Amino acid sequence: MAKPRIMVINGPNLNLLGTREPGIYGDKTLEQINQDIRALADELGVEVAFHQSNSEGELIQAVQSCLDSADAIIINPAAYTTTSVGLLDAIKAVNLPTVEVHLSNIHAREEFRRRSLIAPAAIGQICGFGPDSYLLALRALAARLGAATGS
Ligand code: DQA
Repeated sequence: MAKPRIMVINGPNLNLLGTREPGIYGDKTLEQINQDIRALADELGVEVAFHQSNSEGELIQAVQSCLDSADAIIINPAAYTTTSVGLLDAIKAVNLPTVEVHLSNIHAREEFRRRSLIAPAAIGQICGFGPDSYLLALRALAARLGAATGS
């Protein structure tokens, strides 16, 4: 059986993880986080691919490309969480199981970060666990997609 394919999409400024506000986002780089995701994906029997962009149009394109190339999406829309109707519409259009993740607990921060335009199109939102937010999302999607674990 083919392995389920999960696309991990990261929005603006997440390319700066490691040095960006480490008190909030920790000191792991995006590449280190992606390596941890890859290692867990191997364990869970799923394939992962990664896309990061600082541009809204490119992120919309990345979501659209999942139509042909992915079975589910993990997305950290970062600053576009609160503003992007385009990203919301793209997620609705591809109609794939999607988990919204954030490193920080957006509900414990400034008021403007709390309202997600993306959340209504997601099967769930995981936030506040640092890089583990991505790993928890991966486990949830692998279970939902019925991945056959290697163990
Ligand atoms: C973030 C939270 C957002 O409010 C912020 O704009 C980000 C990162 C997080 O992962 O905690 O860029 O999505």
